[in-house]
Amino acid sequence: MSETHHEPEPKNFAPKDPPKLDPPRDDPISLEELARYDGTGPEKRAYVAIKGTVFDVSGKDAYLPGGGYHVFAGKDASRALAQSSLKPEDCRAEYDDLGDKEKTVLNEWMTFFSKRYNIVGKVQK
Ligand code: HEM
Repeated sequence: MSETHHEPEPKNFAPKDPPKLDPPRDDPISLEELARYDGTGPEKRAYVAIKGTVFDVSGKDAYLPGGGYHVFAGKDASRALAQSSLKPEDCRAEYDDLGDKEKTVLNEWMTFFSKRYNIVGKVQK
């Protein structure tokens, strides 16, 4: 997503096989509730939030325990996505203080997720 990261093809971040997505929901979801969707429960539900929008990423093993991006599950991972970081301490909602390049990367991830995953709610402020 940046010079330090892989670039998905094509550049509009559309998947080769676009999934049929449900209408976006705007149910309020607290950070506490979001944290329960970290893929570790019996139903293996995993949510990732970006800029307060909550995506259901349950269908992708990468976000489940043992997966390479499990660290994002159950969190608003905006900061980590903006910074191309996998550090748990970066998996938080605050990104306002970041630079334009990082904010662009974050917006690209927003587009990427929007084309792949159902929106199930908004993080409650
Ligand atoms: C050596 C470093 C890395 C390699 C080789 C790598 C490789 C990959 C590959 C092959 C994909 C699948 C691409 C696709 O489906 O279009 C992917 C997806 C992804 N990568 Fe990385 N990656 C690396 C580092 C990172 C880092 C540091 C981050 C932190 C933001 C990151 C975040 C993601 C995310 C969020 C996805 C999307 C997964 C999905 O929902 O499909 N990656 N990566």
